[in-house]
Amino acid sequence: MRPPACGHPMAERRAAQVQAALERVLPAGDDVLAEAMRYAVLGGGKRIRPRLVYAAGSVAGAETRHLDQAAAAVELLHCYSLVHDDLPAMDDDDLRRGRPSVHVRFGEATAILAGDALQALAFEAVAHEDLPPTVAANWTRLLAKAAGFRGMVGGQMLDLAGEQRALAHSELEAMHRRKTGALLHAAVLMGAVGGNASAAEVEALSRFGAEIGLAFQIRDDVLDATAETTVLGKPQGSDARQGKSTYVSVFGLDAARTEAERRLRNAGDALATIGDRAEDLREIARFAVLRES
Ligand code: IPE
Ligand code: IPE
Ligand code: MG
Ligand code: MG
Ligand code: MG
Repeated sequence: MRPPACGHPMAERRAAQVQAALERVLPAGDDVLAEAMRYAVLGGGKRIRPRLVYAAGSVAGAETRHLDQAAAAVELLHCYSLVHDDLPAMDDDDLRRGRPSVHVRFGEATAILAGDALQALAFEAVAHEDLPPTVAANWTRLLAKAAGFRGMVGGQMLDLAGEQRALAHSELEAMHRRKTGALLHAAVLMGAVGGNASAAEVEALSRFGAEIGLAFQIRDDVLDATAETTVLGKPQGSDARQGKSTYVSVFGLDAARTEAERRLRNAGDALATIGDRAEDLREIARFAVLRES
């Protein structure tokens, strides 16, 4: 398995914590579907969404054992989106996290079903009976909004439309906010509403989450064009091969990098009123935009 790309000590600690939570909720046994689900989730990944849950949750004073459920849920939802994103009908990519994609290893039908089951499991995790009912309801609503038409799935549809024609700036931004930004934003918000943050703090964290969500996908576009397959753990040049509309194809590499850095500054500005308690969030934001994989 590839080591996590981010060597920061807090990142390592959080990665281990979410790994344990994921192992608890994933099905065990040698059932092929269970095996495909575990393969999709447990073999690597930067775990940035869970990190955002824990970091925003710690600003809000949320309980760690509660945050484990939200952190596992966003990662499960994310892993489902990767399994479906790689399918032949979508991006048709055969490498993920440095290994054969789920459909390559287990077949297309099993990959579709594993993705479906991971999504359901994500909702099971946030609707858990041990969570305070209000927290569970808020997390379920945030996750559902981020996952569906207004979020990830709607964004993926725009992404496919962007193969047919060059998207305009506003469409490109909307696509990135939905397909990727929505889930990172939701990860921050889930942490924020998991404790007793003030309305002003939730608002500040929300602005941070929206900026960093967008910046993360812009960096993904840059890396698709510039990084090595072996470093990325997924096929370099996939976007160009599929004729995707990306920040790189529409604006060029330099402008894409500049825009990601501008979003990083906006994200930092959003945290100004939170002060030192947001240091981990600032570190994650820098990682989102400066990472090499
Ligand atoms: C890749 O996400 C897909 C996008 C939404 C950009 P990550 O870059 O977080 O992938 P992993 O989880 O680290 O593999
Ligand atoms: C992925 O965007 C967005 C998802 C919802 C999975 P990409 O298609 O650019 O992600 P990678 O580059 O395959 O990880
Ligand atoms: Mg895609
Ligand atoms: Mg893809
Ligand atoms: Mg990409």
